[in-house]
Amino acid sequence: MQIPMSSPDITEAEREAVNEVLDTRWLSIGPKIEQFEADFARYLDAQHAVGVNSGTSGLHLTMIAADVREGDEVITPSFSFIASANCVLYERAVPVFVDIDPLTGNMDPQAVEDAITERTKAILVVHAFGQPADMDPIQAIARKHNLRLIEDACEALGAEYKGNKAGTLGEASVFAFYPNKQMTTGEGGMIVTDDGDWANLYRSMRNQGRDVFDAWLNHTRLGYNYRLDEMSAALGVVQLRRLEELLAKRAQVAAWYNERIDQLPDLHKPHIAETTTRMSWFVYVIRCEDHVDRNQVMASLKERGVPSRPYFTPIHLQPFYQERFGWRRGALPNTEKAGDTFLALPFSSVMSEAQVEYVCQELGAALDKKNVRVSRHSP
Ligand SMILES: Cc1ncc(COP(=O)(O)O)c(C=O)c1O
Repeated sequence: MQIPMSSPDITEAEREAVNEVLDTRWLSIGPKIEQFEADFARYLDAQHAVGVNSGTSGLHLTMIAADVREGDEVITPSFSFIASANCVLYERAVPVFVDIDPLTGNMDPQAVEDAITERTKAILVVHAFGQPADMDPIQAIARKHNLRLIEDACEALGAEYKGNKAGTLGEASVFAFYPNKQMTTGEGGMIVTDDGDWANLYRSMRNQGRDVFDAWLNHTRLGYNYRLDEMSAALGVVQLRRLEELLAKRAQVAAWYNERIDQLPDLHKPHIAETTTRMSWFVYVIRCEDHVDRNQVMASLKERGVPSRPYFTPIHLQPFYQERFGWRRGALPNTEKAGDTFLALPFSSVMSEAQVEYVCQELGAALDKKNVRVSRHSP
């Protein structure tokens, strides 16, 4: 059985919506992005949603709007996808990595407080794997120190923290729609905010710095081409309409996994914090006990046609970050341990129970192999 790591969930409705766009003259800057933005803002009960061509470009624009400049510090987790730190570097500011809760993989609020200096400009919080970070204390810290609070909600569309949606808990938030996400536009992203000035700035910067009053080919400020095209927006409109169905299917797949992972030795299913009133399953990441050689488990699975990924590989240990900032192992113990022991299994809304069964059966077989258990402690 060949099982893909992830799969988009596309129906005839999406195909028709994209084809309709192709029959018009408006392949970019047309009515579909306006509709997608309006629907998205309504879904989150937010004032403004601004479509962009990736989560990464959205994060970049939130850094500029938050006035993050050269030499400023932005507090963020290393346990994330690389874009959440790179967006800080784009503005020549410094990502200050803080450690995580060892079970959820989300930023530890106490570590955030401890990392604040007079150069701190913003906190960029990440909701890892579709689970909201512990936002109450993080909001309190941002208020107390007068810091901008931005959410990287790229993995958390639909997730809820104490009954409130992820992406409405900071001053601005960013979502992403790469094909492995809960909903997709191919490539694409969305910035959400209640701040009208920021929304105008995002709209201008995504469109080469043209302001609403600018004539054709007039550019008020430095901008980028971060526009979301009309085919992608049309896809987004349909996927967003189907979001509840997509999230429910993902929750079902996660439940099938949970039942089976509970039966396997030395593996732990994802930890859901009490504050998470709704998990939005983006990936299914298990935790291996320390004495399990996670990489050997991955290799055994691969031999049997089951892909799996170390998720995440900490950003501070990426070659570029080590070289540029001198980060080394030992700096962020919980992050590094998660990087060594967490394992993402194949996951999507179109996965069948038989596929989940197969993955778990092969996991069991991998754990039975000789040499899979190692001693991590030197004598
Ligand atoms: C936490 C996080 N931040 C940012 C991004 C970047 O999104 P994109 O791939 O759309 O640029 C992703 C997507 O993979 C992500 O998971």
